[in-house]
Amino acid sequence: MKKIIIASDHGAVYLKQEIISFLKSNNCEVKDMGVNTEDSVDYPDIALSTCNEFNKGGYYFGILLCGTGIGISIAANKVKGIRCAQVYDLFTAEMAKAHNNANFIAFGGRIKYSVPVTAMVDKFMKTTFSGERHERRISKIMAI
Ligand code: RB5
Repeated sequence: MKKIIIASDHGAVYLKQEIISFLKSNNCEVKDMGVNTEDSVDYPDIALSTCNEFNKGGYYFGILLCGTGIGISIAANKVKGIRCAQVYDLFTAEMAKAHNNANFIAFGGRIKYSVPVTAMVDKFMKTTFSGERHERRISKIMAI
């Protein structure tokens, strides 16, 4: 069973629940790192604790959410080993895996996307990493 870690700040609590339901109905094990209320929190704290947990190992990938997906992805990408992609349609969902082999994807709870977020998650999960030249480019990213 694929284990997926997910977290949000107060700006995406309902979107997080929607994604968790989708993942569970697709036979995934979900580690929910919070938050589950709309009380204001700081998204860098959520990103750091979730990425640290991810880096312990055993997770297939992670999902990070805030109001826009911007702040939490910026913070996540500062943690060693993390490649967090902001996905906003089916094409970027596919490319985030095929070309970037992202280990986190990020969405915003206050964004009106053209497709359901669960469809983007599904596309990401069904795509395989292309490897080859992309492997070299990712190695260069990780060496920065
Ligand atoms: C919180 O109000 C908001 O700034 C946060 O959720 C996120 O959108 C930041 O990028």
